[in-house]
Amino acid sequence: MAELLKVENLKTQFNTEGGVVKAVDGISYHIDEQEIIGLVGESGCGKSVSQLSVMQLISTPGEIVGGEVIFEGQDLLKYKAHGSEMRSIRGAKIAIIFQEPMTSLNPVLTINQQLTEMLELHLKMSKKAARERAIELLSMVGIPSAKSRIDDYPHQFSGGMRQRVMIAMALSCSPKIIIADEPTTAVDVTTQAQLLELMKDMVERFKTSLVIVTHNLGVVARYAQRIYIMYAGRIVEEGTTKDIFGKPRHPYTIGLLKCIPRLDEEEGRKLVPIEGLPPNLINMPPTCAFLPRCSYKVGRCFQESWPPLKHLHGQHYISCYANTEERTSEPAAR
Ligand SMILES: Nc1ncnc2c1ncn2[C@@H]1O[C@H](COP(=O)(O)OP(=O)(O)OP(=O)(O)O)[C@@H](O)[C@H]1O
Ligand SMILES: [Mg+2]
Repeated sequence: MAELLKVENLKTQFNTEGGVVKAVDGISYHIDEQEIIGLVGESGCGKSVSQLSVMQLISTPGEIVGGEVIFEGQDLLKYKAHGSEMRSIRGAKIAIIFQEPMTSLNPVLTINQQLTEMLELHLKMSKKAARERAIELLSMVGIPSAKSRIDDYPHQFSGGMRQRVMIAMALSCSPKIIIADEPTTAVDVTTQAQLLELMKDMVERFKTSLVIVTHNLGVVARYAQRIYIMYAGRIVEEGTTKDIFGKPRHPYTIGLLKCIPRLDEEEGRKLVPIEGLPPNLINMPPTCAFLPRCSYKVGRCFQESWPPLKHLHGQHYISCYANTEERTSEPAAR
């Protein structure tokens, strides 16, 4: 499939009183047409900021300081954040589903008002046609009695149902890409699984690409074709889902996999958390940011700057100096 979006060396920072927070520090990734990718990393590693940067939704003290976001041959970062070009992209061509639907749904407007606004604005539908389409979309995402529920307010829906409404809203203009930023963190695990299945079905039906942003590798395992692992504002490993789960090579990825339960492994395997905390993104050391938490570190890690992404094979890349391949079974003692 053809490449749809290509992000090159994207850098976004927050100029705070305490210093410059390098939230996204030169990430590159791409997504093909009708592809599902996962963007995975611990809280605070820059996942949301990177996606908001793609949509130019960064406000002061944040600033996009470098990079390119090539979508359909155009660099979106050349457009003004509040200009008409970006307005015609947001929602219509690239839609985003946020972490907590209550913060993105307007509590004083009915679902109908919120869903039809997009259809009227971007697709120039009449009020009546937009309402009919909105009901159809709500039924598609599994809202029972959509015809009457459409006039309800967001608080009249459960958390899972609100997330379904958000999915309907994201799909409404048949965008090319949907970015789902932790779409299931606020719901229970059963609802989480249902919502992920729904999203997978919907993107297949609408022929949309999907970026699943999550701190949980387990969430993307079933859905993503490729995975990007982020740490401290950078991508430290990327590969197909098979590469990441079958042959993880970055110590951070190896650590992430040790924290999740696996059905395909021996019984009695202990879940091991990654010790230590992510670094402060102000005044980052020039060396690899994972170094203080790494069980695989070698002499070179202390002397050289953050390792550039190294090609392993196929679509598999890592940013690491250590030879983790020989030692993936048993990390060295600290
Ligand atoms: N408005 C802001 N001012 C200062 N720093 C900010 C601001 N917004 C985000 N940051 C910082 O940018 C970094 C990246 O934040 P981001 O929200 O992208 O993390 P995340 O990976 O999405 O985390 P989570 O999993 O918790 O959603 C964090 O260190 C955060 O503190
Ligand atoms: Mg986030």
